[in-house]
Amino acid sequence: MAKDIFYTALDIGTSKVCTIVAQVGPEGDLKIVGTGLVPSQGMAKGRIVNVSEAQEAIRASVNEAQHYLGSRIPWAYVSISGAHISCFNTTGIMHPATEESPVSIEDIDQLIQTSYPEVAEDKEVLHVIPVNYVVDGYLGVRNPVGLHAGRVQVESHVVLGERDVVSETLHAVEDCGVPVRSLVLSSLASSESTLTEDEREIGVVLADIGAGATDLAIFKDGSLWYNASIPVGGNQLTRDLSVALGMPYYFAEDLKDKWGHASPNGDEAGEEVLLPSFQGQPRRLIRRTALCKPLIDRLQETLGLIMVKIQQAGLHRFPPGGIVLTGGTAEIPGLQQMAKQILGCPVRVASPLGIRGLSHEQNKPSFSTVIGLLLWSIKNHGEKKVYNNGERSSWGHKTFFQRIKKAVQVK
Ligand SMILES: Nc1ncnc2c1ncn2[C@@H]1O[C@H](COP(=O)(O)OP(=O)(O)OP(=O)(O)O)[C@@H](O)[C@H]1O
Ligand SMILES: [Mg+2]
Repeated sequence: MAKDIFYTALDIGTSKVCTIVAQVGPEGDLKIVGTGLVPSQGMAKGRIVNVSEAQEAIRASVNEAQHYLGSRIPWAYVSISGAHISCFNTTGIMHPATEESPVSIEDIDQLIQTSYPEVAEDKEVLHVIPVNYVVDGYLGVRNPVGLHAGRVQVESHVVLGERDVVSETLHAVEDCGVPVRSLVLSSLASSESTLTEDEREIGVVLADIGAGATDLAIFKDGSLWYNASIPVGGNQLTRDLSVALGMPYYFAEDLKDKWGHASPNGDEAGEEVLLPSFQGQPRRLIRRTALCKPLIDRLQETLGLIMVKIQQAGLHRFPPGGIVLTGGTAEIPGLQQMAKQILGCPVRVASPLGIRGLSHEQNKPSFSTVIGLLLWSIKNHGEKKVYNNGERSSWGHKTFFQRIKKAVQVK
């Protein structure tokens, strides 16, 4: 009899560490059975800077989730991001044995293997994702399986991480007693839970604006095509506000959360905010628009940096799907309006889609990565990836289609 399978996602963010365990039943029904959410420590701009502090947070988050589960977490899919990530596109070519027999799933599996790059000693391959195929000169073929062809070429998107950072992340988690099945690029995970198939098809930019970084992923023709990380996030907004008001960081964080606004042109424009007392100073009133000014400046700058990255990716304008904003900082009111004005494209603020039974707390943009990790892990059927400086992963195309089928069933 088919058994329930447990999938665990662990998102190690700059502001929070979140573990979610989901149970997938034999019928594909998915239920969240354990959650562990704790403030992060030992992290900066999406990467571990103090291992023992980070481990304390990871352990606390995992323990909390295990407590709900009532047993040990067998393994987890873990997020990775930061400025050490790089990406490029490669090609692989194959000549099927005979033109009489159609291209098989095994052929495609081998073809994708040929697009694996040789990487430098200090790099680790995180993802090799097939983008599209050229079959006997015909461009843009999405799935060559079943076609009769003399020559098939694949274009793959390769994501690399710095080997030291990758092994540090792996060890940080595994030393807490949780084997890592696979590391997944944060923005790729977030895209799993926020983007629609239509957006991926027509082309879209995903921007996950977290606490320490803004992670970008560009999709074209249904696949990831480019990714980048900008080392600016909500922490900078809070720091700017703290400097502007001459108040400690934690006061500024609270004020940002309660009163922050990216386009205060409505009723909020006339509002006044009573600031807390600090170092014996009397409490004072300031206009909400004045409080928002440093936040607006930083957000405008961040949107400007997103545009620069889009240009660096080789695009002259935003793709037709525009931009989807997620991550905790995307929760600031008025950001959609500001982004529309600055970027001049369709803008959507996204919370995780595709999983039933999320609590109100989990159904927010800051949970897009962890929920996306969960969906990614189910889609890849919990498959284990080997990290060993360029060693080929075991992810074949055969199971890729099966996994997608399975993932669709559980959604
Ligand atoms: N309503 C809100 N208004 C403004 N900022 C918010 C709001 N809610 C959350 N944030 C900010 O979102 C950030 C946390 O977002 P998120 O949980 O996505 O970050 P993270 O995943 O921990 O960090 P990163 O992905 O950068 O490593 C914090 O800076 C927090 O202040
Ligand atoms: Mg994040």
